Amino acid sequence: MARDILQLDRVCKYYQMGDSRVDALREVSLTVHENDYMAVFGPSGSGKSTLLHMMGLLDVPSCGRVLVDGKDVSRLQENELARIRGKKIGFIFQVFNLVPSLTALENVSLPMMIYGVPKYEREKRAEDLLSSLDMGNRVGHLPGELSGGQRQRVAIARSLANNPEVILADEPTGNLDSKTGEEVVEIFNQLHREGKTLIVVTHDPDIARNTDEIVRIRDGQVVEHEVSKEHAVRLGEKTELADGVKLKVNGELGIRMKKKVK
Ligand SMILES: Nc1ncnc2c1ncn2[C@@H]1O[C@H](COP(=O)(O)OP(=O)(O)OP(=O)(O)O)[C@@H](O)[C@H]1O
Ligand SMILES: [Mg+2]
Repeated sequence: MARDILQLDRVCKYYQMGDSRVDALREVSLTVHENDYMAVFGPSGSGKSTLLHMMGLLDVPSCGRVLVDGKDVSRLQENELARIRGKKIGFIFQVFNLVPSLTALENVSLPMMIYGVPKYEREKRAEDLLSSLDMGNRVGHLPGELSGGQRQRVAIARSLANNPEVILADEPTGNLDSKTGEEVVEIFNQLHREGKTLIVVTHDPDIARNTDEIVRIRDGQVVEHEVSKEHAVRLGEKTELADGVKLKVNGELGIRMKKKVK
């Protein structure tokens, strides 16, 4: 049985806008297991980024619980959340969010600073990460001096700085041409093979083809959860996917199983 890493338990997120309330997430329950590779699909405004922010402890839910390694973290203080987040989770944001005044090397080094990693070690690791993403010859460039694809690779390197178990990516290929997009897809596949857990918000069918699970959300709710047959076997037959929906493995190989959640 695969270990649970992240769990959302009936998580809601509301935004009060004057007299009206935006329900960005409505009672979403979802479990992420070790080494899962999950794609999140849904129309614009359906709550995908909000979902990722909840999973990444970047924001607190309006109701429900978020569990990391089985422990409820919903009521922790921001500094405690920041420590868990920094070690456990790497982010690749919808917009790259690089610091414009810092070089590629410095951007990748940044997340290691709060853990007191010495400068020499930080820079060595940042350089190794950038080199592994074919960016070794651009370490001294500022984000403004890089192409979109190169910036995306700096953002990926930065997300890996503290060797997190979980990588959350929001539309990582959205701003890239198809060739650079394919390179990012290959980087993700490699990270998955290395044992990382990946949750990727995407519209990109190339990414979705490679994932074990596809979660579709609409109006802040999970409306469908697909799991590949192989992955279903790996998770174990009794696994609860979401909201009391139990996985049932059927006979045929290689199919994706669909579960209507609501
Ligand atoms: N800070 C905020 N204040 C108020 N409303 C917000 C805020 N952030 C998001 N929303 C609203 O919550 C809903 C979900 O937003 P979210 O960013 O999660 O959508 P999304 O699925 O990521 O969309 P996209 O595909 O366009 O990135 C949207 O209707 C949005 O307008
Ligand atoms: Mg979004």
